Amino acid sequence: MTQTPLLEIKDLHISFPLDEGTVQAVAGVNLTIYPGQVMGVVGESGCGKSVTAQSLLRIIPPPGRIDAGQILFRPSKLFKDTKGDGVVDLAAFKSNDETLRRIRGNEIAMIFQEPMNSFSPVHTIGNQLMEAILLHQKMTEKEARARGAELLRLVGISNADARMDNYPYQFSGGMRQRAMIAIALSCTPSLLVADEPTTALDVTIQAQILDLLRRLQQQFGMAIMFITHNLGVIAQIADHVAIMYLGQVVEQGPVREILRNPKHPYTMDLLRAVPRLGKTAGKRLVAIEGGIPSPFNRPTGCPFHPRCSKVIPGVCNTHIPQLVQLDETHSVRCVLYEPKVPQPNPEPTDVRTAPAVA
Ligand SMILES: Nc1ncnc2c1ncn2[C@@H]1O[C@H](COP(=O)(O)OP(=O)(O)OP(=O)(O)O)[C@@H](O)[C@H]1O
Ligand SMILES: [Mg+2]
Repeated sequence: MTQTPLLEIKDLHISFPLDEGTVQAVAGVNLTIYPGQVMGVVGESGCGKSVTAQSLLRIIPPPGRIDAGQILFRPSKLFKDTKGDGVVDLAAFKSNDETLRRIRGNEIAMIFQEPMNSFSPVHTIGNQLMEAILLHQKMTEKEARARGAELLRLVGISNADARMDNYPYQFSGGMRQRAMIAIALSCTPSLLVADEPTTALDVTIQAQILDLLRRLQQQFGMAIMFITHNLGVIAQIADHVAIMYLGQVVEQGPVREILRNPKHPYTMDLLRAVPRLGKTAGKRLVAIEGGIPSPFNRPTGCPFHPRCSKVIPGVCNTHIPQLVQLDETHSVRCVLYEPKVPQPNPEPTDVRTAPAVA
């Protein structure tokens, strides 16, 4: 792709130093999102999807910290008038930096799984919508109210003018998520980060919200980083997908390519674990072998090797796989695709336990 990326996460490392030990939540994530692209991020619980998303706005909960890496972002509004390439490294800012504050909500907006937690229960939806609008845009309260109602209509809330005066508890779960999307879109961000935005909703409402997001994405031309653990949702909404395992992106590429032609053994297992209408009828669903390792104790070498059906003993437990670019858009982090497979490294013989030779 010759386009300039909107966001480039490079070798990002994030850890949580806790009393029990250090959790390596993100261990070398590389991820690129282009303008207007819908990037799905998928992986099992605890693989670091949310922490990666939170790092973009520097809202990682304490004591989490960025240890290394870059989050290069190209704001479209902030530096319009200045010369230079206008790239900022979000990882390098202090969390209260003025530029970062202007980026939040204005350039990058975020929606979460349970919007009830994001709304104040004691203020009306309208007031909260207007507050978001007035934070980054110069207009009168009357204009902001009209814009708020327009946004509610845009996200499919009927009787929007009257609904502006409702409190969050008067909205259903699906309506709250729509209102959250309206707030996120109030400043037409170039990147919308959606962290499991439909997980708490029933399937029909989930489908409606996905349709809405897809329609708004096309209308506004924004990019979306869409986090989910559901590959079915990815197939419905995303153009590209990044598969995460234990704090790393292990495979990335166009959705159709990854679904048809997965390369990483973890992606293959994930796909086998998805039920399919007709195809899996009467068959047992495949579960991925083993459990997710303790976050305090990452496996050596490739983090997936203890569960991998294609593991090469002596290689995968010692060698950290490199990111291999299979073609322009498809990349994978697995030794099977490295041009030169390293030689097995046999376990060193422990001389103390070797039997004595007579
Ligand atoms: N506030 C925190 N304190 C300590 N550890 C945390 C905190 N938040 C996340 N972690 C750890 O960081 C790792 C990644 O967590 P994260 O929430 O990003 O996972 P996730 O992929 O979003 O999972 P899920 O699908 O369950 O939302 C996990 O091991 C988790 O235990
Ligand atoms: Mg999460």
